[in-house]
Amino acid sequence: MDRHAPHDFTAKWAQQDLGEVVVSAKEVHDRVCELGHQITKDYAANPPLLVGVLKGAINFMSDLMRAIELPVEVDFMAVSSYGAATKTSGVVRIVKDLDVDLLNRDVLVVEDVVDSGLTLNYLRQYLGARSPASLEVCALLVKEGEQRVEQSLKYVGFVIPSHFVVGYGLDVNERYRNLDAIYTYTGEV
Ligand code: IMP
Ligand code: MG
Repeated sequence: MDRHAPHDFTAKWAQQDLGEVVVSAKEVHDRVCELGHQITKDYAANPPLLVGVLKGAINFMSDLMRAIELPVEVDFMAVSSYGAATKTSGVVRIVKDLDVDLLNRDVLVVEDVVDSGLTLNYLRQYLGARSPASLEVCALLVKEGEQRVEQSLKYVGFVIPSHFVVGYGLDVNERYRNLDAIYTYTGEV
């Protein structure tokens, strides 16, 4: 298998608990390239600081930053939300904070998925309090009809039905992050 090309081949170890492909590897790849071009245009005068939200955004961040043709800077934060594995409680704990200063920076938060929107809402307030010049969001996935908090998202990869999904960074109990496509999850949680 060519590891340099995104593929839709579903590994044997993963097949049992995965349902349909929600976004194929090619669709992910093409859309990330489009988002990268758009960000390159929009931020040409002021290259952004990309802030990835660990761990779900690792695959997206890795591909997106390479699709942006600007001297971007990259940092990560880790948050953990209390509650059951597949539902957020909206109470967010910062597990790893940023290493760089946000003062007067154009900050672009890179998120895997916006479900209820509670995590992002918390992050926006938290990061906004550090006086960035601008604060926008690039979310790979947004779940249809689920947002409990109104979000203005500057960049969205795909709007998907409100199912639990895995792959391309998204996990169940830390598994399935290393798949190139995004699938519905049908197994036990
Ligand atoms: P929200 O606060 O409900 O918007 O969701 C917060 C976080 O829950 C996301 O950033 C993901 O890390 C995780 N999450 C939400 N939906 C899914 C999913 O379908 N698969 C995997 N993780 C998810
Ligand atoms: Mg996330």
